[in-house]
Amino acid sequence: MKKDFLSIIDIDEYELESIVADAMHVKRLKSAGTAHEFLKGKSLGMIFEKASTRTRVSFEVGMTDLGGHALFLNPQDMQLGRGEEVRDTARVLARYVDAVMIRAYDHATIEEFARYSTVPVINGLSDSLHPCQVLADIMTLSERFSDLRDLRLAWIGDGNNVCNTWILSAALTGMEIVVASPPDYRPKDAVINQARAAGGRVTIVTDPEEAVREADVLYTDIWVSMGDEQERAERLRALKNYTIDSRLLARAPPDALVMHCLPAHRGEEITDEVLEGPQSIVWDQAENRLHAQKALLMRLIAGGMPPAD
Ligand code: CP
Ligand code: NVA
Repeated sequence: MKKDFLSIIDIDEYELESIVADAMHVKRLKSAGTAHEFLKGKSLGMIFEKASTRTRVSFEVGMTDLGGHALFLNPQDMQLGRGEEVRDTARVLARYVDAVMIRAYDHATIEEFARYSTVPVINGLSDSLHPCQVLADIMTLSERFSDLRDLRLAWIGDGNNVCNTWILSAALTGMEIVVASPPDYRPKDAVINQARAAGGRVTIVTDPEEAVREADVLYTDIWVSMGDEQERAERLRALKNYTIDSRLLARAPPDALVMHCLPAHRGEEITDEVLEGPQSIVWDQAENRLHAQKALLMRLIAGGMPPAD
């Protein structure tokens, strides 16, 4: 396993399978109320340049469940916010903590941090990738399907960081990713080409109905990601025909599932009816952030879950 988890393709299919299995195991332990303090005495530093609900709470509670400790670090309260260099911060934090999770505007910040850190670095979301989200999503689908290969996921809307991560995961999971986006909001060619070169099946279309027709999973995310706020009006205009509503859902197979990484903006990328409807599995996705990240932390900090006695 690589030192860091900056992209979903920093793990191979065997590591993915093993992390998902460990995640399901710790989920069972937690639900049974069985202690699982496998990272006793370990500390995780968490740097958030942007807002977060799920990532922050799931990492913090995850470390507590594992017998460790997490520190929330706001760059504005650190010397980072006063100009201390990323590379210096990385080397200093590595002397105190056992791993660092960073949510940053610029993916390059996380890469630089990882380059200088001697402890594992986890990407908690950047402008281009959100691997912890897709890891939890893969776990969520693995709870419902014994084999993910040949499932078709239709991404509807903005070709953003979560979409890029799904595209990159195509070769890893064997799932087919069909993205329906307006031409100006398609994922970057470099990401698509990288995924295809690794053997991933990725198709880009414009028409959401074409994408969902044979889909097992419909996935969407907000139209205005953190950092894109100044483009709000033009994004709402360009994406207005990309809402997952009951009319679009009716074009998909009747057992198709609906996923959303949250936060959701009801009435924009998804309607209240679909988000709250029987095909939606969004709350399981959110919960599984906790379990999947605990498995990831054990892997990165301790080489995996200890064998059962
Ligand atoms: N899905 C997700 O990462 O949510 P937060 O922004 O609340 O962490
Ligand atoms: N694409 C969204 C994901 C939020 C979890 C953003 O970057 O804001």
